[in-house]
Amino acid sequence: MTQSASEPVAFKKDTVLVIFGASGDLAKKETFPALFGLYSEGALDPSTKIICYARSNITVEKIREMCLPYCRKSTTGNDEAKMKEFFKMVSYVQGAYDTDDGYIRLRDEIESFEAERGVTEPHRVFYLAVPPSIFLTVAGQVKKNVYAENGITRVIVEKPFGDDLESSREMQKGFKPLFRPEEIFKVDHFLGKDDVRRLLTVRFANPFLNQSWNKDNIESVQVWFKEPFGAEGRGGFFDSTGIIRDVMQNHLLQILTLATMEEPIANNADAIRDAKVDLLKCMEPLGPENIVALGQYGRSVDGTKPSYLDDDTVLNKKSNCLTFTELTFAIHNDRWEGVPIVMRAGKGLDEDRVEIRIKYKKNTSGMFKGCTPNEFVIHFHPKPTIYMTFNTKAPGFDDKLHQINLDMTYAQEYKKDWVPEAYECLIKDAFLGNSANYVRDDELDVSWALFTPLLKYVEGPNAPEPEIYPYGSTGPKGILE
Ligand code: BG6
Repeated sequence: MTQSASEPVAFKKDTVLVIFGASGDLAKKETFPALFGLYSEGALDPSTKIICYARSNITVEKIREMCLPYCRKSTTGNDEAKMKEFFKMVSYVQGAYDTDDGYIRLRDEIESFEAERGVTEPHRVFYLAVPPSIFLTVAGQVKKNVYAENGITRVIVEKPFGDDLESSREMQKGFKPLFRPEEIFKVDHFLGKDDVRRLLTVRFANPFLNQSWNKDNIESVQVWFKEPFGAEGRGGFFDSTGIIRDVMQNHLLQILTLATMEEPIANNADAIRDAKVDLLKCMEPLGPENIVALGQYGRSVDGTKPSYLDDDTVLNKKSNCLTFTELTFAIHNDRWEGVPIVMRAGKGLDEDRVEIRIKYKKNTSGMFKGCTPNEFVIHFHPKPTIYMTFNTKAPGFDDKLHQINLDMTYAQEYKKDWVPEAYECLIKDAFLGNSANYVRDDELDVSWALFTPLLKYVEGPNAPEPEIYPYGSTGPKGILE
């Protein structure tokens, strides 16, 4: 049975999930805690078989110990017992990534489970929690040795998908002969965040809002990503990545796209991703003229926090790697022509904040001409909140204007609800076959086409020196300050 792109099959009973790289960081911090979260909230069927695959000689017990600190409490309690039950679903296969023998043992393990359960049309999910350098090696082995010939195979793979347009296309070319597009689920974990997923609902289920989001009413759109910690411990990875590839080309561009695209013609994966691609095509490729600020954090003013270059894991002590960037974007379409769009991202800053801020224009006539303009803000992190600044009259005899916040803090509003974490949503979606919140290849292509000229410039021979800003500060001055 094959899976049609329009009607995905939901994996319910006796699904096999294989986690490659099961002893690594991603599996420990995200994949296992998400699976346990789904299980403990009743969103992962207990008939599921989870098989860990890695090169290390470890045990399921060791994996359990490793991921325990990252598992959150369930809403229903009794977690210790649930954890015991959950790990009964898990087994471990040790093997190399590039030779057949481990995959053959894996196939035996999968097939004996499916035989025991009487499965005739296998449903298999392969989660590649491995470095990008071996994505294609593992993918090739999956196709050769453990692909569900009489059933459905889904492969989950995590960014980075290349590091520029060319390498991304190379990777896409490598996957193409192995899997059909509907079999591959490319993760941008921001698309799994409940509050990012809510953006479309907020815009299109509240027509008054969406109708005012255009060049006639909006002064500027700003997307911010601020982290109060640096590249500590991840310098090896970060130094060859930089802030633009790490969060701007993917996570922040996703937020910006969802906030500015036109309404999809239907509520399904293809329509949503078509609308995103249409919007991205209205943006001009980025270059030197889009740069507002480039920075790298130095030592904190009080000397307690190291500079980027002081970090032991940053090996190149002359590195110009960007830990801060502010860019402007132009969207050439009827809705956004001429509206300044700013994206600002930095590590080692003064606060922890990810948000999008839609600033409305000033009131230019009437009784309250010139009053403080409205702002519509969505905070994604750390405390999901939506608020709008709103003009009203201050209490008392005067007609004094007062601006207040119409505020919706999710933790207040949905106190008793289980709000799934990003990876919980994404794994659940892969089981359901819903790829709306996964990145499609043409989307990847157009986003890399946008960023590649900029990356070539900032990493090329004529690159400007990054401004050094103190760790823990607000970073270089921005365009709208
Ligand atoms: C990751 C980046 O993709 O996203 C990290 O590599 C960043 O540098 C992280 O800190 C932010 O995601 P979250 O979910 O922790 O807000």
